[in-house]
Amino acid sequence: MQTGFDIKENEKGFIELKEYMDSIKNSQGILMQTLHKAQSIFGYLPIEVQKFISEETNIPLAEIYGVATFYTQFSINPKGKHKIGVCLGTACYVRNAQAVLDKLAETLKIKVGATTDDNIFTLEATRCLGCCGLAPVMMIDDEVYGKVDPNSIPEIIDSYRK
Ligand code: FES
Repeated sequence: MQTGFDIKENEKGFIELKEYMDSIKNSQGILMQTLHKAQSIFGYLPIEVQKFISEETNIPLAEIYGVATFYTQFSINPKGKHKIGVCLGTACYVRNAQAVLDKLAETLKIKVGATTDDNIFTLEATRCLGCCGLAPVMMIDDEVYGKVDPNSIPEIIDSYRK
């Protein structure tokens, strides 16, 4: 699998991860804790990191891959510089959040859950973001966009490309 992940460039991250793994080696559930830590260090769980964890823990790579792909809090793909989350909670859904999501997918030319080739945007569907009165709602990084009109999407996206 080609991820573009540079082991040399991430050497410090591996050292930090190894120290963390040593600190929890006698506790329960070390795989989940280790994957959480690895994701916080590297931003995602590339195959090179999964192999490292496998070698250090003797847990088969297939098992690690299975856990990393099963839980939605983990990602085996790099995230873009800007994370876009479209709320598909009930209030947003009934106010046409799906059209917002579809327009984003069309504008960015990616599917939900994917990252653009230039690594600038990752598109995700989310649960209620807690501001239902503004439905339909999307977030780009920490910025909340309320009452989103799908037609305004290309302009919003362009503003992040500048
Ligand atoms: S349902 Fe979308 S913010 Fe609550």
